[in-house]
Amino acid sequence: MLKRAKFLGTGSYVPERVLTNFDLEKLVDTSDEWITTRSGIKERRVASKDETTSTLATIASQRALEAARLSPEEIDMIIVATITPDTLFPSTACYLQKNLGCREIPAFDVLAACSGFIYACAIGKAMIESNSAGKVLVVGAECLTRITDYQDRGSCILFGDGAGAAVLGESDDESGIITCNLYSEYDEEGMMVLPAGGSKYPATQETVKNRMHYMKLKGRDIFRFAVIEMNNMLERELSTNGIGMDDVKYIIPHQVNMRILEAAAERFNISMDKIYTNLDRYGNTSSASVPLALDEAVRKGLINRGDLILMVAFGGGKTWASSLVRY
Ligand code: ACO
Repeated sequence: MLKRAKFLGTGSYVPERVLTNFDLEKLVDTSDEWITTRSGIKERRVASKDETTSTLATIASQRALEAARLSPEEIDMIIVATITPDTLFPSTACYLQKNLGCREIPAFDVLAACSGFIYACAIGKAMIESNSAGKVLVVGAECLTRITDYQDRGSCILFGDGAGAAVLGESDDESGIITCNLYSEYDEEGMMVLPAGGSKYPATQETVKNRMHYMKLKGRDIFRFAVIEMNNMLERELSTNGIGMDDVKYIIPHQVNMRILEAAAERFNISMDKIYTNLDRYGNTSSASVPLALDEAVRKGLINRGDLILMVAFGGGKTWASSLVRY
C-alpha cells in the first residue's frame, strides 16, 4: 500500500508584547476604526529584543513535539518556511536544530512568503512518502516586525510576529495530507517586495537611507490577486477531489484581510464560522499564519481526527498554495 504522510502533532507560539491599533495611532496617521474596517486586525504581537525567528520556532516546535509525543532525537528532517531568517546563513532550520537538540539530520529553509508553510508540508509529505524520512518537523516562523516600515501607514498596520509547527509522519489510519498544490509566478508588478539585502541591492548607506530593507507593498493589487486565487484554489480542490464545501469541516486560510475571507465565504455560500480566523489578534504573520491558525483550531477542539480541512495561502513571489488534509 502507498505510504501517506499525516500530521502527528501541532504547536505554536506568539511573543508576549501586544501592539494594538491604538498604539499605531501614535506612530502613523491612522485610526483603530480605519484598520478594523479595512482589514479586521485589532492587534498583533511583537518579538522582544532577545527573540528571533528561530527562538519563536523553537517553542512552537517543542509544543508540536509534545503533542506528537516525540523527542527531538526522533526527528529525521527540519524544514522552516520563513522570509525573516535569523541570518541568511546559517539557515533558521540549523539554529532550530541546535536549539531543539536534534541529531545530524537535514535542516533547511524554504522561501515562499505567506505560502511557505504549505510548500514545506509538500516537501515533508514527499520525503515521507518516498521513504526518504520518517518524521519531518515543518515550521512557519516570522519576525516580520523587523522588516516592517513604521513610517508607512499602508503596510505597518498589517504585520505581526509568531510561529507555528507540525510534526509529519507516516499514517497508519485514514488521516493524511491528500493534496498539496503549489503555484508561483514572478511578481512583475512588484506587489510585495523586500528590495535590499540580497545580491541585487547589497546593504549600503544608500539602501538604508532609502528604507529599502523594509517590505514594500501594493495593498490594493495584492487584495485583488488574493481574492481571485483563493477562490480559484478552493474551487479546484473541491472539483478535483470530488467533494463539496459541506464535506469540509474548516478552511484554514492565510490570515491576511477579513474582507478577502468574507469574499470567499460569499462566493461559496458558506458561513464565516467555517473559515478559521485569528487575524484580529495576530495580523498577517506570513509563513507562520497557516500553522498558527491550524494549531489554535486543533487545540480548541474545532478540528478532530478524521475531519477534512482545506489550507489555503497566497503571498510574495507571487506564490500561492492549497492543501486538502484529512486530519
Ligand atoms: N490609515 C488610514 N488611511 C490609510 C492607511 C492607514 N493605515 N493606509 C492607507 N490609507 C489610505 C490611503 O492613503 C488611501 O487614501 P486615498 O484614497 O486618499 O489615496 C485610502 O486609505 C485607501 O487605501 P487603499 O490602499 O486602497 O486601501 P484598501 O482598502 O486596499 O486597504 C489594505 C488597504 C488593508 C492594505 C488592503 O489592501 C490589504 O489588506 N491588502 C493585502 C495586503 C497584504 O496583507 N499583503 C500581504 C502580503 S505581503 C507578503 O507576502 C509578505
